Parts: sequence; C-alpha cells; structure tokens
Amino acid sequence: MNYNIAVIPGDGIGPEIVTEARKVLDMIGSTYGHTFDYTEVLMGGCSIDATGVPLTDEAMATALASDSVLLGAVGGNVGQSNWYQLPPNLRPEAGLLKIRKGLNLFANIRPAVLFDELKGACPLKEEIIDGGFDFVVMRELTGGLYFGERKTYEENGVTTAMDTLTYNENEIRRIAKWGFDIARKRNKRVCSVDKANVLDSSRLWRKVVKEVAADYPDVELSDMLVDNCAMQLVKDPKQFDVILTENMFGDILSDEASMVTGSIGMLASASLGDTKLGLYEPSHGSAPDIAGQNKANPIATILSAAMMLRYSFDLEKEADQIEDAVKAVLRDGYRTVDIMSAGKQLVGTKEMGDLICQYI
Ligand code: NAI
Ligand code: MG
Repeated sequence: MNYNIAVIPGDGIGPEIVTEARKVLDMIGSTYGHTFDYTEVLMGGCSIDATGVPLTDEAMATALASDSVLLGAVGGNVGQSNWYQLPPNLRPEAGLLKIRKGLNLFANIRPAVLFDELKGACPLKEEIIDGGFDFVVMRELTGGLYFGERKTYEENGVTTAMDTLTYNENEIRRIAKWGFDIARKRNKRVCSVDKANVLDSSRLWRKVVKEVAADYPDVELSDMLVDNCAMQLVKDPKQFDVILTENMFGDILSDEASMVTGSIGMLASASLGDTKLGLYEPSHGSAPDIAGQNKANPIATILSAAMMLRYSFDLEKEADQIEDAVKAVLRDGYRTVDIMSAGKQLVGTKEMGDLICQYI
C-alpha cells in the first residue's frame, strides 16, 4: 500500500527527531512492502519567518489532503525571531490550534507507559510503581475553555477578563465513544474525570458519558473529580486504564501523567477525529536548549509514528514491531542523554534512530 504523509518538522529539535521517525517508517516500509510518501509542510516559527504566518492555507490544504500528519514540535525563542512579541493568533502555537481545529481532531490520546528499562527515571517510590503502569489519557481537544468566548474589558474602571467553558452533548458523546472504543482494545476500564460537584459543563459531561457507557456493557465506567485524579496519578497510577476528560483538565493531567513516567523524550501522542486522518506528535516541545546538537531523544516521535500505523493505517503488526524494537534497544542499554544513567551507553539522536532501524 501507498500512504501519503504530510510531515511538519517545525522548529528547534523538530527537524532532527522527525528525520529519525521517517527513517524508521521507511525501514518498516521496506520490511513489509509499504510505501510512505512524504510532503513537507511548514508550520510554526519557521513558517512565520518564511511566510509571515504560522500556518498558511496552502499548508493546511496539504495536511487535509494527506492520509496522516507527522509533526515534530513548534515554537522556541532561538535565532533572529521574536515570535513571542507577535499577537497570539500569529505566534507559532497558533499553527497548532489551527491544524487541530482544521482537521477536526477532537480526540487526543497520550499513552503514559512506564518502561521497565527506565524505572530508575520515575520520580515515584518503588513500591508505588512495582509492576509498572500503562494507561492513556484521552483528552477532548477542540472544545471547552480553550475554544470558548473570551474577552478583557473595563467595567467601572476595573479591568476584568473572562473565559468560558462550553460543551454540548454531541461534543461529549463523540469523545466518550473514542474513550470506550480505546478501552475495549485495552483493559476495558474508563475513568471519566470532571468537576461535576461545581461545574454545569461537568454535570452534562457525566450524564452523557454514562449514556454512552450503556452501549459498552463490557467496559467498566467510573467517575472521578479532577482534583482527586491529580492526587491519584501520583498515589497509585496503576489503577488507571483510560482516563477520559475535557480539554483543560486533560492538558494538565496529561502533563502530570507524562512526568510520572519520568521521561519527556519517550511520550508519544495521537490526535484523531471522525476519519482516519490523524496528527501524530511527541508530547514534548521544541527543546531549543538542545536543538541542532544531536542530543534530542527521537523515541517519542518514533512511537508517535507507530501510533500512526496503528490508528490511521490499521497496520497493527508494524506498529508492534516498532514498539518492540524501541524496548529492545533500551533493554540493551542504549540511552540518549535525557534518559542516561550509570553503566549505560550514551548515543545521539541519529544513532538512536539507526539502532531502532537495525532492531526492526
Ligand atoms: P520542551 O518540552 O521543549 O523542553 C522541556 C525540557 O525537556 C528541555 O530541557 C528540553 O531540552 C527537554 N526535552 C524536551 N524534549 C526532549 C527530547 N526529545 N529529548 C531530550 N530532551 C528533551 O518544553 P519548553 O522548554 O517548555 O518549550 C520549548 C518550546 O516548545 C516553547 O516555545 C513551547 O511553546 C514549545 N512547545 C511546543 C509544543 C508542540 O509543538 N506541541 C508542546 C510544548 C511546548
Ligand atoms: Mg500542555
């Protein structure tokens, strides 16, 4: 089969890590007889420098016409650019919001897996992580507070700012279905996280999620308040399988979830909608402090490419193969600097990509 992938290297370490992910995809392609065709798309600071905007309409059209999108990271304050002095709608991150909305990617999946080989990097106590953990945060991505009405205004000489958190039942239903579908392929437990003791939007969330659950009798549903969930993630992360939540809660909880695994350079993500066209990117940013030094860990991006094979192309076996190769490389002691520990073999970005290809 032929697959058209729109590739967005972006800024900072983006181009380096995306190069390694492409290498791994090509190795899978030649092993299994698939062809991956790449079209490079500018987004973020590099696009601002070249075109004046973080994502042009033509770039957006290229992404829309592809089978899937692979993204490095955008943003940073390196070089000549003062991207952060621009108004918010012209900054690098505006490209991200535009592409998520434009591709209607309302479901963001972030796996939080504690790799056995990297237990030493986990900030939690050994008795808590004994046996490891493996859960996913399923975050609603195109609604809620980040897309609500907002304004700053003067009233009786006092400056006031407001943001609004709105969800309708359809938005909740479609993300809930995604959550239950994913749980069905995993350990069949959904924990829906909200703030239903205070917020109307959360009370609707809880009601609709419960209705959806009726169609999935084989999946167990529980509810948890978001403040409690923040505690439970560090107290007992093993209890979770799929955490299903709205946009802002998911933003915060997924960052917390990634830190309990102890390794920002390891965490993949997928953003999906109603079609097979998804956006795959590492959970971390553009790491300007190490850009261009062959130091970045490419594994998060490589594992995101594996998610692309699984969710957009239904290439389950090929996705497993990448994940197994990553585990094997770690088992044999190879480490990039972010996950380095005593007695291990330090390698660079490029060497890590080469090793994963070899193990495939
Ligand atoms: P960051 O994730 O880029 O970096 C945080 C720390 O982790 C840095 O010390 C960095 O060197 C390290 N790090 C990150 N990824 C790594 C990797 N693959 N291998 C080794 N070390 C790694 O977050 P930060 O510094 O807050 O943001 C930098 C820029 O990235 C900002 O402009 C921010 O807006 C942007 N950003 C972009 C995102 C995206 O494109 N989706 C997401 C998050 C931040
Ligand atoms: Mg965030």
